[in-house]
Amino acid sequence: MNEQDKILILDFGGQTTALIGRRIRETGVYTEIIPGDTPLSDKILDGVKGIILSGSPESVYAAGAIPDKRIYNSEIPLLGICYGLQRIMTDLGGKVVPLPKMEYGGVEIFMNLKTIKRLSKFNKAAQRFLSGFTKRKIFELRHFFSEQSKFPAFTAWMSHGDTLSELAPGFIETGTSATGFPALICHEEKPWFGLQFHPEVSHCEFGSSILASFVLDVCGCAQNWTMEKYLEKIPAQLRKQANGKPLLLLISGGVDSTVTAALLLKALPPEQVHLMYIDTGLMRSGETEEVTTILNRFGVKNLHILHCENEFLAALKNHESPEEKRKIIGDLFISIQEREVDRLKLPEDYFLVQGTLYTDLIESGKGIGKKAHLIKSHHNVGSPLVEAKRAAGKIIEPLGELYKDEARALGRLLSLDESLVGRHPFPGPGLAVRILGEVTHEKCAILREADAVFINELKRRRNPVTNKTLYEEIWQAFAVLLPVRSVGIAGDGRKYGWVLTLRAITSADGMTADVYPFNIKDITEISTLITNTVPQIGRVCLDISSKPPATIEWE
Ligand code: XMP
Repeated sequence: MNEQDKILILDFGGQTTALIGRRIRETGVYTEIIPGDTPLSDKILDGVKGIILSGSPESVYAAGAIPDKRIYNSEIPLLGICYGLQRIMTDLGGKVVPLPKMEYGGVEIFMNLKTIKRLSKFNKAAQRFLSGFTKRKIFELRHFFSEQSKFPAFTAWMSHGDTLSELAPGFIETGTSATGFPALICHEEKPWFGLQFHPEVSHCEFGSSILASFVLDVCGCAQNWTMEKYLEKIPAQLRKQANGKPLLLLISGGVDSTVTAALLLKALPPEQVHLMYIDTGLMRSGETEEVTTILNRFGVKNLHILHCENEFLAALKNHESPEEKRKIIGDLFISIQEREVDRLKLPEDYFLVQGTLYTDLIESGKGIGKKAHLIKSHHNVGSPLVEAKRAAGKIIEPLGELYKDEARALGRLLSLDESLVGRHPFPGPGLAVRILGEVTHEKCAILREADAVFINELKRRRNPVTNKTLYEEIWQAFAVLLPVRSVGIAGDGRKYGWVLTLRAITSADGMTADVYPFNIKDITEISTLITNTVPQIGRVCLDISSKPPATIEWE
């Protein structure tokens, strides 16, 4: 028996599927995300109080995956989101058609009073769902007594190219978008609901409240899931997965791999755990020294530090394309690691452990349902050698369901230093994706120095309103070296120096990002300090692009 209530999320490859899980976990309810077409055994359904069908980049009438029909024969409440709603409708006899123009962004939702009143009489689950709406002030009780047939309730966030032209039998339209399309659908008798919008996206007004109404009021889940519980269950899972075999984890010095290392050392005998740190020459300033100190503190027995700067820079010579650079680095990581595995005489069936987060997996097209579209190849996901290990079932990714801030929370529980846990993310390919064009020793040294000046200033300066350091306020900051030089003045002479760009963003999880609004005094002083300290830099720019449309890293 499962002692914990859970919400099962069927993933059809939507870019925001993991966000659904995260929003629900924020309410203290445990969630599990599985591929949308997984056959649902009794074991999978044990403890499941509700099922959510996610969005998808596909159309229901094209290549979209189909869920196990069992979901329609059980009493478990269902909530379909976007594709999930269209899936339920199509499976049960409704009709979905393409829209003439994709609907994207904020759209006002009108609730239909007549259907709400009807549902409230005949469907207990719908009654609970809608009373969750009034309880959470999405709309007020007085609306029920309104004279109008419908009333505007909230602004939802839409992203869909298809719509419902016919509802399946038994379903009624409870909410309609200002553009006239069905937006909130309920079944007349069963605990089945559908939303054409994305409540998981932070731009959706009352999105978390809508999810909470489903999870807490309809499904009746107990709010007892915490990171402490996650930490309790993970060591046993790791021991079971590893089954006594050696594990090898590549450490980068970042939060994710360090938290993963700490988890391994907590769960398994230190002799079983091999930690390997490859100094690629593409690291931040002082990184190798810091990593060594931290890992020794964990009581690590097998720590392998490899100095491979020359090898990486030689492989990157004459390569300018971002994807090529990422692949070269990814493959070199693996071949160095395989060389080391031979040297260490690890058995062939050793496990490769990675600190990959859910965001890394989903952005590399490796979303749980494997239906998400590729955005860019993260070195630790896309390499063919890693794929071979993955196909052999020899990859363990203990943080694969977590977002960055959840990995940080786990790190704090594992008593990792705040300076490490609060560290800004750093990509696996390191400075190579922040040096646009060809990567050289000289450029690495210039960027490392400029980046260190930038980051030290962010740690030193405070926002007088919040009293936090700028480093704490910013989710990720770094410098980028452009393959461009510009003219300037140094003393009485002409200077022809490199152009550096500073990037600083705020974000919840790296999936979307906003530009950090610097105080002009801070940023101009930082610019002056950089050009004074690093003579090769002639000009400093500030990147003011949000994600989307830009990504956080430049390559
Ligand atoms: P993008 O540039 O895709 O970055 O908007 C989102 C977040 O992921 C980090 N990032 C990586 N992390 N390996 C990693 O471990 C990678 O190859 C990689 N590429 C980007 C990036 O720094 C940001 O936090």
